[in-house]
Amino acid sequence: MAVQISPSILSADFARLADEAARVENVADWLHVDVMDYHFVPNLTLGLPVVESLLKTTATPVDCHLMIHDPDRWAPDYAEAGAASVTIHAEAAKAAVRTLRAIRAAGARAGLALNPATAVEGYEDLLPEIDMMLVMTVEPGFGGQRFLDIVLPKLARARALIDKHGGEVWLQVDGGVSAETIERCAEAGADVFVAGNAVYGADDPARAVQELRTLAERATPPRW
Ligand code: DX5
Ligand code: ZN
Repeated sequence: MAVQISPSILSADFARLADEAARVENVADWLHVDVMDYHFVPNLTLGLPVVESLLKTTATPVDCHLMIHDPDRWAPDYAEAGAASVTIHAEAAKAAVRTLRAIRAAGARAGLALNPATAVEGYEDLLPEIDMMLVMTVEPGFGGQRFLDIVLPKLARARALIDKHGGEVWLQVDGGVSAETIERCAEAGADVFVAGNAVYGADDPARAVQELRTLAERATPPRW
């Protein structure tokens, strides 16, 4: 899989989301939208109505990261609304297989996210049910946190499991990804990179996306 960059609008200006999305259009592969409900994480952002409006204003595929207490109830709605990728948290889902299948049935890519303290090994059997695994490199809830290096060995183990199974599962990292840390993530096997502060905190977000992409491409080990 080629390197893909997914800027997180969590670090953008929420009063001008259409403009902020336009700043990375044609440069970013995805637009990462963090849905937080103040239950699964101690922060509150936006929900389905805002995602529906955003989908009307941008041509960039939307990558919804659901940090919510009840993804089984809500995830299919995001897929039906037109999000091209919907990721649920393993720690929150009570019926992960059913929900992942419902996301796919609604036409979206299905993602499964793991918090820093969640082991990847327990989810090996779910690989055929997912299109992307998200390995969190911060505790979810806030942008601008420091990258957790302790997650890198797990990221490498996730890559090994995915390669062993031979499917087309993408491996995403989210949290503290920047020009300082992206190469470590690529070396460990990530191929989809979420960046909030590193993109929307930059003077030129489009240029920041290109710089991150170049760094990740250079650091990606050859695979065959
Ligand atoms: C955090 C969110 C991230 C956040 C990343 O819980 O899932 O997507 O926006 O922001 P940075 O890149 O600033 O750490
Ligand atoms: Zn996120």
